[in-house]
Amino acid sequence: MPMSKLSIRDLELTGRRVFVRVDFNVPLAEGKVADDTRIRETLPTLRLGSERGGRLVLASHLGRPKGKPDLKYSLAPVAARLAELTGKPVGFAADCVGADAEAKSKALPSGGILLLENVRFHPEEEANDEGFSRQLASLCDQLFINDAFGSAHRAHASVVGITKFVRQSAAGLLMEKELAFLGKAVSNPEQPFVAILGGAKVSDKIEVVQNLMKLADAMLIGGAMAYTFLKAQGIPVGKSLVEEDKLDLARGLLAEARKRSFRLRLPVDHVLARSVGGADETQIADINRTPPDWMGLDIGPKTVQQFRVEISRGKTIVWNGPLGMFEKPAFAEGTLAIARAVAEATAAGATSIVGGGDSVAALHQAGVANKISHISTGGGASLEFLAGRKLPGVEALTNKEVKSSE
Ligand code: 3PG
Ligand code: MG
Repeated sequence: MPMSKLSIRDLELTGRRVFVRVDFNVPLAEGKVADDTRIRETLPTLRLGSERGGRLVLASHLGRPKGKPDLKYSLAPVAARLAELTGKPVGFAADCVGADAEAKSKALPSGGILLLENVRFHPEEEANDEGFSRQLASLCDQLFINDAFGSAHRAHASVVGITKFVRQSAAGLLMEKELAFLGKAVSNPEQPFVAILGGAKVSDKIEVVQNLMKLADAMLIGGAMAYTFLKAQGIPVGKSLVEEDKLDLARGLLAEARKRSFRLRLPVDHVLARSVGGADETQIADINRTPPDWMGLDIGPKTVQQFRVEISRGKTIVWNGPLGMFEKPAFAEGTLAIARAVAEATAAGATSIVGGGDSVAALHQAGVANKISHISTGGGASLEFLAGRKLPGVEALTNKEVKSSE
């Protein structure tokens, strides 16, 4: 947490309506919340706000409804889940702006909670429209709390625009926790710092690779993105997924790593199939012995062993992205082994930070989610942070006044 930003703990909330931006962009199934992690992670902020007598007006987006109402993306199921989790009634306004929302906000008792319908039902949200921001702000008494770390990389009206029309904008407790863990990793990490990156595309993670190369002691790369780096070195990768238009870029990153004597580790062996769907026939091969018509879908046992050694040395470990196609059991072992290795290193004293939906799912699948220091609720936001970018939702918060020493 940049120490200079106002916190919910600094606010006088008694009897005042507070606009609280949360990230309740959660998966739904059959009209119910399928994973309530993001809702539960926000409860400490809501509890504190209620205890201090705030009247909480909650806003979030859900999915990408393209600026018009679409009941598929309604937050109504989230209001129901939130009421279960808090054990208190949660009001719901079917539009996030307008007379009904205003009346319901004004009727809130101290400590009460109202959830507004999806802010992305209005195109003005993503456009960061000034008039819309002002309308959102009119639902509170000059107080804004941002607890939506997962949306902090979006310069949208309910994240950034609204801050211009309230007196105080503060970070919620979840926002503070996220910034504390990620902030320490990029500013003052305990060494050795080991970064683990996976996932399909190099293009998603270029800046993260560049920035972490300056901060970390080692980087372990797996998943499909590894093949772009391998092919860039002239290693035959068969039919493995490669971003052909990113080969030069990968070559550049490899050259930079060499120049810095940075330990950028790529897979030395992998689990192969004839196609993505070909889980029934697999083989394990060293990387430089990849047959031409096979494709790599998981890291192999030698790679797991090498990566485990690096991970076990880490005092700070950051992981984003799976190391193979772990949704299929035939290609899951590498990613699950890495999940267990990160958990073991954490038990031995390392600080571990994991972000991104797939890696978090892998932690749950491996049964080690409760053995990780910090699981980020933000995928895109945590990646931008690790890339060294400033998050507009954080920048827009009110700076703390520097006390003069009298
Ligand atoms: C997320 O889940 O990535 C955040 O809620 C942000 O959503 P967005 O990527 O649709 O802006
Ligand atoms: Mg996203």
